[in-house]
Amino acid sequence: MNVIMAAPEAFPYAKTGGLADMAGTLAKELSRLKIKVLLIMPFYRAVKERVKNPENLGKSFIVEIGGERIAGHLYRDGNTVFIGCDRFYDRPELYGTPSGDYPDNPHRFIFFARAVFEAARLLDFKPDVIHCHDWQTGLVPLFLKAFYSRNGSFPFFAKTKSVLTIHNMGYQGIFSRDVLALTGLPADMFTPEGIEFYGKVNFLKAGIIGADMITTVSPTYAGQIQEEEYGFGLEGVLRKKGGALRGILNGIDYSVWDPGRDGHIPETFNRKSFVEGKAACKKELASECGFKDHDAPLVSFVGRLSYQKGVDLISAAAGDIVSEGVNLLFLGKGDSLYQEELKELAGRHVGRVYARIGYEEDFAHLVYAGSDIFLMPSRYEPCGLGQMIALRYGTPPVAADTGGITDTVRNYLPLSGKGTGFLYTGDDPRSFRQALWYALCAYKRADCWKGLVKRAMAEDFSWKKSASLYKDLYDGIAGL
Ligand code: ADP
Ligand code: GLC
Repeated sequence: MNVIMAAPEAFPYAKTGGLADMAGTLAKELSRLKIKVLLIMPFYRAVKERVKNPENLGKSFIVEIGGERIAGHLYRDGNTVFIGCDRFYDRPELYGTPSGDYPDNPHRFIFFARAVFEAARLLDFKPDVIHCHDWQTGLVPLFLKAFYSRNGSFPFFAKTKSVLTIHNMGYQGIFSRDVLALTGLPADMFTPEGIEFYGKVNFLKAGIIGADMITTVSPTYAGQIQEEEYGFGLEGVLRKKGGALRGILNGIDYSVWDPGRDGHIPETFNRKSFVEGKAACKKELASECGFKDHDAPLVSFVGRLSYQKGVDLISAAAGDIVSEGVNLLFLGKGDSLYQEELKELAGRHVGRVYARIGYEEDFAHLVYAGSDIFLMPSRYEPCGLGQMIALRYGTPPVAADTGGITDTVRNYLPLSGKGTGFLYTGDDPRSFRQALWYALCAYKRADCWKGLVKRAMAEDFSWKKSASLYKDLYDGIAGL
């Protein structure tokens, strides 16, 4: 079985969030299941900085967008092929700056969608399945149906099927109507059954209507996105897909996230013996953050600074939190509004609140390992990797009971000695604060806390099971 993983980002090459982890790790895990995987992604500046000597495959192609002929070039590192086109991808960020998206994102991802097919042909890699991720690759399933597999127009793709994984309904790639002409799709696709969405063009919708199978990243979220509250206007379109929509929980990459052999932390630890190791990590983290009181409970947030992640709920409760003698740490990057808010908060509570604005993979390891409690007050969460990593590093989360969090965190019940974290419902600072109080009370009872940490670390979030579910899914559609 040949699978093309068409991803707008993939770890370790370029990452803004969990999609990169998911695409990179799934590609690796599928190879273990004897599936031939070719991961295709843009040759961003971040990739160039990371891969010092990519193999230049010496193969080029042309894509016509709006009458302009634009050249692309293929590079390779192992099983990953990069689509080179400097005018589109050689930029400081992947999709935009803190003040907004790159205005030519439609061009950048129309080009990428076309490039996926060009690369497959040039490399003579005949895919049974093209697995796409999020709106950036939403045009691929529709292009496959409209241009490549239709009426045998390209025998090379005659049997190719497509899968779209939705990582986040909150980002759909919605553009003005004239973008339709740039895609080359026929004008009669601009209908409510096609890619029209309230008078605009919607790339994620293109993927939904075009794909043979759709997945999202947790079973709970798969149900939620068919409802108005979480479907962001596409709930009806998803409901129509019926049995073609599945929720498959992500795993985390245990070769990257393992407190027992993590090179980024001062002392490794495991579920049988974590007290000293975690204490050493906490000490280093507290001094790195300039906290005055190193023994105070250390409570952290790691994530994209966006409305989805509810970081504003933490800042709204921050005054109360620090007055309880808690150290509060933020590691995040995103909307300038939240970046400024956190900087201002840290300035107001020097020695108690620390905000690191930036994307720092290495530091994140120390934060997961050295914190006592992890905060994830997401307004919605398709899967969420942060809470799974935190559990693995013995840092129980205080988290919103939604989406993938519901599927991965078991609520702590004091007397029963069960549970791995503290869940709450409702997106208001009060509910969140209440859950944090419960957590802080439990933290004070050392024996209970040890049991909680042990249970958290014992959870299995490896990719094995999920990768085999994806394999079954491909087997089910390939060759039909
Ligand atoms: P999302 O994909 O919605 O951003 P996830 O919880 O699925 O959220 O995944 C986020 C991933 O990105 C995790 O691996 C997390 O550790 C990482 N991450 C997010 N923000 C940062 C940051 N500022 N620095 C380092 N790692 C980060
Ligand atoms: C998205 C979601 C997140 C999920 C990640 C990987 O960015 O917001 O919940 O874990 O994709 O699937």
